[in-house]
Amino acid sequence: MRVLIAFLLGLAGSLAFGWWGFPHLLYQREPQPLQYNHKIHIEKGSMECSSCHEVAADGQFAGIPRTASCGACHAEPLGKTEAEKILVTSYVAPEREVDWKVYSRQPMNVRFSHAVHVNKAEMKCEECHGGRGSATAAEPFYRNRVTGESRNVWGPRMIRVGLKPGEGMKMSDCESCHAQKGVSAGCLGCHR
Ligand code: HEC
Ligand code: HEC
Ligand code: HEC
Ligand code: HEC
Ligand code: HEC
Repeated sequence: MRVLIAFLLGLAGSLAFGWWGFPHLLYQREPQPLQYNHKIHIEKGSMECSSCHEVAADGQFAGIPRTASCGACHAEPLGKTEAEKILVTSYVAPEREVDWKVYSRQPMNVRFSHAVHVNKAEMKCEECHGGRGSATAAEPFYRNRVTGESRNVWGPRMIRVGLKPGEGMKMSDCESCHAQKGVSAGCLGCHR
């Protein structure tokens, strides 16, 4: 009986560690420097994704906009929120860039072109980024303590079946979509 109880306690302990403890130890939570609200800009600001994240005709992707472009509307606060006050006083007025953490950032040896996917294949942002573009707050960023990479490369789930958009973008995830669509990129299409 004692042995059985000890075994069950041990089993419960290792399951708890595996499901809950390990991910918490592996990833360090880092808040974004500023709370950014995507939804309010689409609704109240009547903006489109391309107003800030343009994919130019020459293929250049704007990425996350620089502070100067925020200043066009936020030279003075428009509303009363704390986040906007921080934006105006700590970034726009002193012309300082926000040190945004990029959730989907891939390792250095990967190259990824938005133009190929967004312009040529006419894919929607949501197909890879999920609901980030309509979120009301910038969720915390999780950094892998071993590799230094963003958690979003692996995603929050270990099992790759039925992966939802935004839940991970490992090599196998790029390739499983390519296989579905009959695209062949080759090692050097995706790596440098
Ligand atoms: C007013 C400018 C602005 C507009 C308009 C805008 N964004 Fe953003 N976007 C930002 C800023 C600032 C960030 C960085 C903060 C964050 O991650 O929430 C960001 C981050 C993102 C990210 C996170 C990238 C990553 O991996 O870290 C995605 C995805 C994104 N935007 C998609 C969209 C989509 C889709 C739309 C249109 C529905 C859109 N954005 C409209 C300013 C904008
Ligand atoms: C075209 C004008 C426009 C541009 C450009 C713009 N914003 Fe805004 N922003 C708005 C409007 C409109 C609101 C809503 C103000 C309100 O009524 O509270 C807003 C609100 C905000 C808020 C407060 C929202 C909240 O709920 O806390 C933040 C923070 C913010 N913007 C950040 C940014 C950043 C960062 C950029 C540059 C990447 C940017 N904005 C560019 C129009 C703009
Ligand atoms: C096929 C998948 C895919 C699609 C579709 C896609 N993205 Fe991305 N996005 C990525 C990947 C992968 C990265 C990371 C690239 C890297 O690290 O080099 C990324 C990075 C970003 C970033 C951060 C860029 C930076 O370096 O600062 C933003 C912002 C972003 N995407 C917005 C968008 C928007 C807006 C759309 C729709 C117009 C879009 N993405 C469509 C996969 C995609
Ligand atoms: C469709 C795009 C794509 C293709 C094709 C591709 N890779 Fe990758 N590869 C990635 C991405 C994205 C990552 C980073 C995310 C990760 O670690 O899974 C990666 C990571 C890696 C890594 C380091 C991480 C790991 O899984 O050990 C190696 C090594 C690698 N790739 C080798 C290759 C070789 C060799 C080929 C050709 C047979 C190849 N890749 C083809 C996208 C691709
Ligand atoms: C959800 C689907 C999807 C995902 C995920 C995806 N891709 Fe793609 N990719 C496509 C499609 C569709 C094309 C074909 C574009 C065309 O030529 O019309 C493509 C084309 C490419 C090409 C050009 C291949 C050529 O024709 O030469 C490269 C390189 C590439 N993708 C890299 C990546 C990398 C790296 C990732 C992961 C970080 C990724 N893709 C994730 C759908 C996807």
